[in-house]
Amino acid sequence: MDIRFDGRVAIVTGAGAGLGRSHALGLAARGARVVINDLGAATDGEGRSASAASAVVDEIRAGGGEAIAHGADVADEAEIADMVDQTMTQWGRIDILVNNAGILRDKTFAKMTMDDFRKVVDVHLMGTATCTHAVWPIMREQKYGRIVLTSSASGLYGNFGQANYGAAKAAMMGLMNVLHLEGARDDIRVNTLAPTAATRMTESLMPEEALALLQPETITPGLLYLVSEIAPSRTILGAGAGCYALTRVYETEGVLLEGAQNTPEGVAAHIEAIADETGRRELTDAFQQTRKYARKAADARGLTLPWGD
Ligand code: NAI
Repeated sequence: MDIRFDGRVAIVTGAGAGLGRSHALGLAARGARVVINDLGAATDGEGRSASAASAVVDEIRAGGGEAIAHGADVADEAEIADMVDQTMTQWGRIDILVNNAGILRDKTFAKMTMDDFRKVVDVHLMGTATCTHAVWPIMREQKYGRIVLTSSASGLYGNFGQANYGAAKAAMMGLMNVLHLEGARDDIRVNTLAPTAATRMTESLMPEEALALLQPETITPGLLYLVSEIAPSRTILGAGAGCYALTRVYETEGVLLEGAQNTPEGVAAHIEAIADETGRRELTDAFQQTRKYARKAADARGLTLPWGD
């Protein structure tokens, strides 16, 4: 089955360069009408320019596609409201939102100012929440929506010097988990992309040979799948150089420590059993954990709880 986006309207944030540009070109090549959002900022978030977004619009139009540019700052609610209004006026619907805009302010935590921490959280977390919040009622009304949040291995696994960025990127998983639950009844599917690509963000960090393999175009097919009609939901897809993998969070089966065993020393003595991965499970909402723990304690006492799984 061909994946196509004819009749669909997509907004891609930070689409003037790097991954966002590649995603926007990929969507347009398969029939989507695309809003090219870009503030035209430097990698640290400073400055503003309309040229990057309009160059991508020109590229799409030259290929016979439809695109418009908007220079909204993703973290500015009024500017994002204006972008969404203009999209609705122009095309009357919004099917796809790719939250991709991003910046870096790397420093060790000891040297990082709270301004640098806040700015990175503002663009990545508040920017993603702001754009998503602006399209949410439209997607609910349409009973159709596909949203991607852009995370990073830095958030999922950690990276020296990126406390601000890692925290903001890990937050994507939490936002996705909740929006997946709240969007399901209106066929709004929410996924997370964890890319690794050669862009201006990473060009000084990797050898030429690796950069040549990690071109943004090698990642865009994964993004297109995540925003397609057959998209999954609540998936964290790692992508780079044509490789794809899923990141999942599991909880071990766990151990009940009762009475005199439930002490710090008891936890220390049982840490291997607590960590034992036999029977580990991916929990699908927060109360699964609560029910699991309460049931273990109830079972040990011969009690029955009025709760399912
Ligand atoms: P890039 O620097 O090439 O592109 C980012 C774009 O976002 C720029 O065009 C910039 O003007 C725009 N932007 C920045 N702040 C904005 C704001 N407040 N509002 C609107 N637009 C804004 O970076 P790249 O590498 O393409 O990154 C795209 C996304 O992928 C980012 O979220 C980044 O954190 C993430 N990512 C990238 C990785 C990589 O290896 N390149 C690794 C993991 C995640």
